[in-house]
Formats: sequence, structure tokens, C-alpha cells
Amino acid sequence: MDWGLQNRLSRIFRPSDARTVMLAVDHGYFLGPTHRLEEPRKTIEPLLPYADAIMLTRGVLRNCVDATSDVPIVLRVSGGATIVSEDLANETITTSVRDAVRLNASAVAASVFIGSAYEHQTLAALGGLISRALDHGIPVLAVTAVGKELEKRDARYLSLCCRVVAELGAHFVKTYHCEHFDRVVGSCPVPIVVAGGPKLDSELDALRLAYRAVQEGAAGVDFGRNVWQSDHAVPMLRAIRAVVHENATPERAHELFLDLTRVPQRQPV
Ligand code: R5P
Repeated sequence: MDWGLQNRLSRIFRPSDARTVMLAVDHGYFLGPTHRLEEPRKTIEPLLPYADAIMLTRGVLRNCVDATSDVPIVLRVSGGATIVSEDLANETITTSVRDAVRLNASAVAASVFIGSAYEHQTLAALGGLISRALDHGIPVLAVTAVGKELEKRDARYLSLCCRVVAELGAHFVKTYHCEHFDRVVGSCPVPIVVAGGPKLDSELDALRLAYRAVQEGAAGVDFGRNVWQSDHAVPMLRAIRAVVHENATPERAHELFLDLTRVPQRQPV
């Protein structure tokens, strides 16, 4: 692997355990001002010290994150449809690799919609993106199975999605957890990070999801709403770190979460 590409990946995946806790805050690109992400800077800033990487668009990066921040950036570069459009799957590449280089992105991310009317369009766009990103040593994260496609959340469908994007050259994949998730991991030759999805009933449920995902082979998580829609977002992100980086059980991590909600949060030095 080229040195630059490997170096960028090692900024996202902690070299000591090859795992990552990514923070997804890119929802506005199709959802608009999502609940608790209405003012991105307010949501993002306190969480930055505890994220191994953040996933967001160039608009939010330029306007809501200080350029002095050293958090690795996974730049969403696909879009073009919204929650009110006819088909959420009708995405294209909206941000150039050149701009990703300008923004010092550690990786770029694009969605594919396998099984939808836009399967060919989004897969072809991903292939082209990977070729252009490789010219600059930038890794590509392929995001599979969102929107309507998420209804097909089973190991057979997700294995197909993850394998196809890995075959196209994606360096890592973001998908959902499912029953028999180990089969999805086993047939995908690149690391998988797991999305959280809509906010679950409790923090413990979200910690259980993270735990199952990493114990079944995920290389980490890329959670959004289950972090910043919590009333205690920083303790929640720190508890997820314990699950991912320290193999803490969900119960142990939940104790940590509760402890952290009782003490005022201090920024690390
Ligand atoms: C979906 O395509 C978006 O990119 C989000 O980043 C993704 O859904 C992960 O966020 P959440 O954990 O809120 O589902």
C-alpha cells in the first residue's frame, strides 16, 4: 500500500488495535437540520476530543470546524437527493477529490444504493471516485444500504453490498449490523465500520449494538444519532470508546457512561 494512503488510514484506524470510533455528522446533506444537529458547531465541538475521525460534508467542515483542529476528516463527497425528493438513492459525486485534498481529508466517503434504480449510477460513481482518489493516495469509504435499502437489512444483502464495493476498490466500508454479521465481515476483504441508525431506546441498547458489532468483527463504529441525540453526548461517545478500544462489555461501558454523567466534563489536555 502506498505510504500516503497507509498513513491516512492509520490516522482513522488506531494503529494499536486497528479500530476506530468515527463520529458521523453528515446527516444534513440529505436530512437538512436534523434534531440536535441544527447548529453543527455546537454539537460537534465538545465531541471532537473523543472522536478518532469525523464524517461530514465540506460545507459543515469549512463553516463549523476550526481549521486548527487535528481531528482526521472523512469527507462525504456524494449527495444530490434529499428526504423530500422522489428517490433518496439518486446520488452523484458532489465534491471533487481536488477539494478533498485542499481540505486535507484523511478519506472520502460516498454512498451506493445496491438493488435500487440507481445501483449502476452509484456504483459507477464510486468506481470513478476510487480511481481519482487513488491518484492522490486518499482512501475511500463506501457507505452501503441506507434509506429504503435499509429495509433489506440481512446478512445476504449486506454481504453482497460490502463485497461489491470492496471489489471496486473501497478501502473501508460502512454498513449496518445484522444477524449473522460475522458472515458479512468474513466475506469482505476490507475493514467494516458499523452505522448506528436512528436513536435507539436507550444508551445501553446503543452500547450493545457497538459491542456486538466489534465482537463479530467490525473494525469500529461510525455512529451519529446514538451519540449526539443522547442527553449526554460526550459521556456516550466516551462509553463507546471503551467498548471499541478496550473491549468493555456494554454493561461496564454503561456504568462508565452513568459515572461520566455525574461529573462535569473536562476537556483533555
Ligand atoms: C448516512 O448515510 C449518513 O451518512 C450517516 O452518517 C449514517 O447514517 C450514520 O449515522 P447514524 O449513526 O446516525 O445512522
